[in-house]
Amino acid sequence: MKLQTTLAVLGLLLVGSQAHPVLPNVTEPLCDSLEAQAGAQVSLDFINGQLNHGYKYALNQIEDIKISTLANGTEIYLMELEFLETKCHILDPTPVALCPIRPKQETAVEADCDVALSNSAGVLSVVAFKCKTETETPDLPCAGCPYLIPFNDIGATQLVKDSLDIFNANNTHNAVFSLLEVGRLSSQIVSGGPKLIAEYVVIETNCTTVDDGICVPLNHTVARHGVCLSTGIDLAKTVDCTIFDLPADLNDTVLPAPPAVLLHAHTAGPGYTPTIHALKHHKLTPLHDPSASGLLSESAESVEVPVVLDPPAAPIVKREIGPVEEVAAILLLAEAPLTVAKPLVPRCPGKVLHF
Ligand SMILES: *[C@@H]1O[C@H](CO)[C@@H](O)[C@H](O)[C@H]1NC(C)=O
Ligand SMILES: *[C@@H]1O[C@H](CO)[C@@H](O)[C@H](O)[C@H]1NC(C)=O
Ligand SMILES: *[C@@H]1O[C@H](CO)[C@@H](O)[C@H](O)[C@H]1NC(C)=O
Ligand SMILES: *[C@@H]1O[C@H](CO)[C@@H](O)[C@H](O)[C@H]1NC(C)=O
Ligand SMILES: *[C@@H]1O[C@H](CO)[C@@H](O)[C@H](O)[C@H]1NC(C)=O
Ligand SMILES: *[C@@H]1O[C@H](CO)[C@@H](O)[C@H](O)[C@H]1NC(C)=O
Repeated sequence: MKLQTTLAVLGLLLVGSQAHPVLPNVTEPLCDSLEAQAGAQVSLDFINGQLNHGYKYALNQIEDIKISTLANGTEIYLMELEFLETKCHILDPTPVALCPIRPKQETAVEADCDVALSNSAGVLSVVAFKCKTETETPDLPCAGCPYLIPFNDIGATQLVKDSLDIFNANNTHNAVFSLLEVGRLSSQIVSGGPKLIAEYVVIETNCTTVDDGICVPLNHTVARHGVCLSTGIDLAKTVDCTIFDLPADLNDTVLPAPPAVLLHAHTAGPGYTPTIHALKHHKLTPLHDPSASGLLSESAESVEVPVVLDPPAAPIVKREIGPVEEVAAILLLAEAPLTVAKPLVPRCPGKVLHF
């Protein structure tokens, strides 16, 4: 969607930096082709790996793909992808393929991402991405559907606290858990009155169920984590927590979680950052810093290039670009019309996997 705009802006900026474009090959494979699917899978895994809170994403649709071949044979994939939020928290070890998609009735979260990947010697890797998230609600008004409420809602905050106390007073894990992150708070009109629904993440503390006193969350690398779903109608509260097993051998198992320093909590616990998400439900990292990928930042000629992401709403952000010439050539060529005959079946977008 916004890929064209971004590329145009990048192209212009790079032309301004004395680039002398060579003409690389550009192909436009089918959106459901094997190379598009491979690019989408690598993009999805990479973006999920960048998340430090919230829920994993799954692919919904491949919207566009262009592949340019550089002089040295490296291919650059430029893709437009649509992801949907699943119900699996990032700390949940369930593979994305098995995670249910959050339905529109519960207010779905959709992420539109532009991703650049390189394919060098058959190895696909993400060079840069930017994503925009938005919520999706049912097409028709839905009186009985749960709707999201702010993270500072007093009733829901109390429900989280009370339901976690109930769980801690009566669980089979012989541990006291503390709140790490509130994932979702919603409210629903049911016959008994307003129903509050809280989904949150917990972390094991140094207390067992018989201890009472100061309970401090354990180090992320050794603590058990879990997700809880609680509901409250008036004073009747329910709670259901799933505590994930620790990997059998901590020594050589990579935890599904990102490094502890990346974890932050919305409302409490280690890493609590009050400025993050005071009111809003979480959003996907809007822009990946390409310097972290190592692929676009190797050149000594790297320049700071301001990229207008989504004018006029988004602010101008800085992005590192390099090596300048070849990237400029690709980006300019990505704009060029192709003289290939149009196939009878639309090339893109690919099929919608969910909704
Ligand atoms: C496109 O790439 C192919 C294979 O990499 C190469 O043989 C061909 O000469 C290239 N064409 C142009 C116009 O660069
Ligand atoms: C091909 O060229 C690109 C851009 O100059 C560079 O990033 C990439 O590392 C090169 N690949 C190989 C295999 O040399
Ligand atoms: C504690 O949990 C057990 C098993 O889940 C349940 O049968 C029991 O009613 C619970 N007790 C309280 C006080 O919630
Ligand atoms: C947990 O750790 C805190 C801080 O180190 C300590 O004050 C507290 O006594 C510990 N609790 C237990 C049950 O060991
Ligand atoms: C957590 O554990 C890891 C591995 O044992 C260790 O490197 C790290 O320093 C610990 N962090 C804290 C805050 O204790
Ligand atoms: C894990 O590492 C610790 C300390 O390095 C070591 O004592 C222990 O034997 C290791 N466990 C396994 C299963 O390798």
